Amino acid sequence: MLGRREGDVFPVIQTAGVIGYLLAAPLVAVCALALRRPAGAARARSVLIVFHLLFLPLQFLFSFGNFEPLAGMALSAVFVVLLKPRFPKLGRRARKVWLTVHVGVAVSWLGLSLAMTVLAFAGLTAGTHAVRHGAYELMHLFDLVLVIPSMAVAVLSGVVLSLGTPWGLIRHRWVLAKFVIALSLPTFAAFAESKWVRSLQALTKDPAAEPGGTGVALAVCLATFTVLLWVAVVLSVVKPGGRTRWGRGSDRAGRGPGQGAVQASSDRPAPARDTPVTVTEVRQLAEGVVALELRRTDGGTLPAWQPGAHIDLVLPSGRVRQYSLYGGHHGHGDEGAPLAYRIAVLREADGRGGSVEAHALRPGSSAAIRGPRNNFPLVEAPAYVFLAGGIGIIPFLPMIRRLDAEGADWKLLHRGRTRPAMAFADELIRRYPGRIAVSASDTDPRPALDALLGAAARGAAVYCCGPAPMLDAVSAAMRTACPHGRLYVERFAAAERPPRAADEPFDAELTRTGAVVRVQPGHSLLEAIREFEPALDFSCAEGVCGSCETRVVAGTPEHRDSVLQEHERDRRDVIYPCVSRARGRHIALDL
Ligand code: FES
Repeated sequence: MLGRREGDVFPVIQTAGVIGYLLAAPLVAVCALALRRPAGAARARSVLIVFHLLFLPLQFLFSFGNFEPLAGMALSAVFVVLLKPRFPKLGRRARKVWLTVHVGVAVSWLGLSLAMTVLAFAGLTAGTHAVRHGAYELMHLFDLVLVIPSMAVAVLSGVVLSLGTPWGLIRHRWVLAKFVIALSLPTFAAFAESKWVRSLQALTKDPAAEPGGTGVALAVCLATFTVLLWVAVVLSVVKPGGRTRWGRGSDRAGRGPGQGAVQASSDRPAPARDTPVTVTEVRQLAEGVVALELRRTDGGTLPAWQPGAHIDLVLPSGRVRQYSLYGGHHGHGDEGAPLAYRIAVLREADGRGGSVEAHALRPGSSAAIRGPRNNFPLVEAPAYVFLAGGIGIIPFLPMIRRLDAEGADWKLLHRGRTRPAMAFADELIRRYPGRIAVSASDTDPRPALDALLGAAARGAAVYCCGPAPMLDAVSAAMRTACPHGRLYVERFAAAERPPRAADEPFDAELTRTGAVVRVQPGHSLLEAIREFEPALDFSCAEGVCGSCETRVVAGTPEHRDSVLQEHERDRRDVIYPCVSRARGRHIALDL
């Protein structure tokens, strides 16, 4: 295919190309065979990746005077993708440089394609020999001197940009579509367009010769190139289509194996760091409630935590659930880093499977944790009222332990389905006589919330954790009976919010990198940010766990999370991007 032909230009380069392919063929064949053997597969893969990356620009040189190497470049690019290389991510400055090169050259390619299309139609329709032949001569010259370099640099810079950033080559539909366009154009140019140009350039030396069918095919081909390049430009700007299955797969591959009150949940991948833990104790606390003790698998200590904190438990299946901490084990006294965490899990047979899986854990089972995080801290107040529904008692256990030790003014109303299902009721009554009211909905009347809250001291902190109807009832009662107190709630799941107008697109500026991401309706701010900052922590993706908390530098957030308390909902310094959006067209984030 690469043999010398009459009329070929750059014979030295062409000969070099022949030698290059003759040397490359056995190397690739040997490495391909080695890929099948476990012993040498890793090295063969590395050699192939490096070889194809070096061979890409070499083939560009070979393509002067002989266009088949352009198809070879496309094949090498495909091989690199299939070999799944891991590239170091580009720094901010390097990314800007490559982006500038890529955009600049891609625009030149588009301009050239447009010029070639005009020349093709000029050659096809020209009434004089001079214009007809001149058009094809010019096209031949453009092909050699301008089109090939701009095509090659555009493809190469696009590949570097894709591999050196979180975009990847095949993770996003829009990048993949651009990649296919970028590879198909050189391939088609090598096997058809350049040959048609050459033959028309030779043919039209004869003043009587007409471009005929070849001229029509060339004009149509170049017009199609121009349209496809415009499509690529539009794809770069709009970035439609979301992730491919490989993109979703790479998210999952990037993560490790890893209720108390907070039981928001997610089966979605999260980037947070997991700490492997082993279940060291499983204890039945009440009907459907087990306590799990978790220790680091490597025997090390765990981060200290404060009352109200929770952890993400990463179950063996990869499900992630949030559970409040209520105890642990310290090597020496209650101070310092704990050796174990204790959580309680209510089994919900009709839930999404997390609690059932947690109940199947046994001593020795492996899991992972993230955190702890505290969205429900104990505030300073002259008095405290705790309202616990069912398993919502868990975050209050360490709170009242601390407050009681400090001699604070506090009381607790604990409501549950049945007494046997209320894990700590008897112990609490015994330990804190006179401060606890326990009520079971199968035997006792509904407690008089208004009276209880109305009696709270001025400035009291009212803490509530339980099912949504209970939180709603307490919120309503606070407004009428206890405007002199402040309510703090922790939700089991995302709060129901009233219907709102359709989402509007907005721009989020990531001030540390200078990137601006567009957030389209139907897409979350978190998704958009993670295109550029894949390391941004998140877990529940429902606005409950608080792990995606991000500082706002400018703009106004529209809070849709269930983390902020009612009196915090006009905060402008923080946002939970998994669910919240911007009011207006722009928001700037400290990312
Ligand atoms: S990921 Fe849980 S609040 Fe955003």
